[in-house]
Amino acid sequence: MTALTLSTAAAPGLRADAIVIGVSKGDKGPVVAPGAEAVDQAYDGGLAGVLETLGASGAEGEITKLPAPAGFRTPLVVAVGLGSLPEKDAEYDAEALRKASGVAARALAGSKKAAFALPVADAAAVGAIGEGALLGAYSFDVYKENAQNGNAAKGKKNGKAPLAEAVVLGAKPRDKAHKAAVERATAVSEELNRARDLVNTPPNDLNPEAFAAVAQAAAKENGIKVQVLDEKALAKGGYGGVLGVGSGSASAPRLVKLSYTHSKAKKHLAFVGKGITYDSGGISLKPAGHNETMKCDMSGAAAVFAAVVAAARLGLEVNVTGWLALAENMPSGSATRPGDVLRMYSGKTVEVLNTDAEGRLVLADALWAASQEKPDAIVDVATLTGAMVLALGNRTFGVMANDQAFRSAVHEAAEEVGEPAWPMPLPEHLRKGMDSPTADIANMGERMGGGLVAGLFLREFVGEGITWAHLDIAGPAFNEQGPFGYTPKGGTGSGVRTLVRLAELTASGDLG
Ligand code: BES
Ligand code: MN
Ligand code: ZN
Repeated sequence: MTALTLSTAAAPGLRADAIVIGVSKGDKGPVVAPGAEAVDQAYDGGLAGVLETLGASGAEGEITKLPAPAGFRTPLVVAVGLGSLPEKDAEYDAEALRKASGVAARALAGSKKAAFALPVADAAAVGAIGEGALLGAYSFDVYKENAQNGNAAKGKKNGKAPLAEAVVLGAKPRDKAHKAAVERATAVSEELNRARDLVNTPPNDLNPEAFAAVAQAAAKENGIKVQVLDEKALAKGGYGGVLGVGSGSASAPRLVKLSYTHSKAKKHLAFVGKGITYDSGGISLKPAGHNETMKCDMSGAAAVFAAVVAAARLGLEVNVTGWLALAENMPSGSATRPGDVLRMYSGKTVEVLNTDAEGRLVLADALWAASQEKPDAIVDVATLTGAMVLALGNRTFGVMANDQAFRSAVHEAAEEVGEPAWPMPLPEHLRKGMDSPTADIANMGERMGGGLVAGLFLREFVGEGITWAHLDIAGPAFNEQGPFGYTPKGGTGSGVRTLVRLAELTASGDLG
């Protein structure tokens, strides 16, 4: 894991492998961003021209490397594009800094230490730069050749080791707010990266039992109470949804409850995550071409897990309960059939028309379990529908809720932390499509608006009067394309930062 530190050292004297500076896209060519003054001075104020000569424009994602000027103790200058210049008198946008920092950290894989001389107007900028660096430096090498003895970085054949240390220059190491920003960035990024690891771990190594064990260990380490219901406990408790989805697998399902409490907490949030460690579709088997990335179907549970641990590490003054609904969806002689009726934990019966609509079944039980504690709000996170990917693409998650104000609050929190999100409706007319002649409800309805149908199904399992929001992260959870900004290929950790922000806002009394 990359280390994050602060330094007031002046750029020329600092010993590092590289110094990262920012360059913005101006009307008349690249503009050197604040933070790079020492480098610019070494070029007699002509750095922008040098960068332009090298082809730099300041566009987002752009990297320009140049040798450091004489007298510097860093051999390399890495100029990273920040995108368009901020409006007059405005500060650099946190997300622009986060992205640029991530791009630079990625470009510096293989280096030991890099100094980030980007614009640091305030503590928020320090946090954004730190977060971008830690998230951008992420790599998943556990299964690569030579990644032995738990040290993926040593002697890697297939790639470069992640940047080992990121130093944020211009920040004040003794300033309380700057220190807190680093602590927050470190806790959130480390837990988010752990969620990415879980998503990237192949499904033959991460089954429900293994996931539960990881959660158990992390909970112990961070003073979180943990309770794991195994298949016997689930049967005894009547969790027909989780059991029905898990029944086809040789690996039994689990329901994990993580309880973080703070003595000064005034509010209680519940987070519920879909944790399908592999989604084959079950008897309604997915065709080839649709199942290769389905190890990512536990991304919601990974996000919930990471957010609860981050909340604990940050000592937020709010109670947060995380529910991980873990099962593997497989076809077999013991699998749930299309046509079967499940009796859910809430007592409702569900006719399973399509075993590939399994996420809503495990979530239904977890939502009802979460509701029994009467939290102030419930937020579930799930890679729930392909329909949401069709609607919003693969970088934006959908937000549905039983309360308009809460939906707006969740959307705003997401945008604030740099997670693209968009509000989606729960149209009442789509409910009747799930009417079943046999059971209380079917697990499928109209094909059109499938993401909203799934949301309407979940709503039926939220306790009366409880504020609830549903994040469908099927698009952004897993990046099948190339890395961008601070987002790697593979598991992205989608949802984590929004959940942490919601916990913070609830703790400070700024949410509901
Ligand atoms: N896990 C999938 C949804 C998904 C699709 C996640 C693409 C990530 C990327 C989910 O369990 C599923 O199969 N949903 C079905 C529901 C349908 C059968 C009603 C879908 O979206 O096709
Ligand atoms: Mn499915
Ligand atoms: Zn699924």
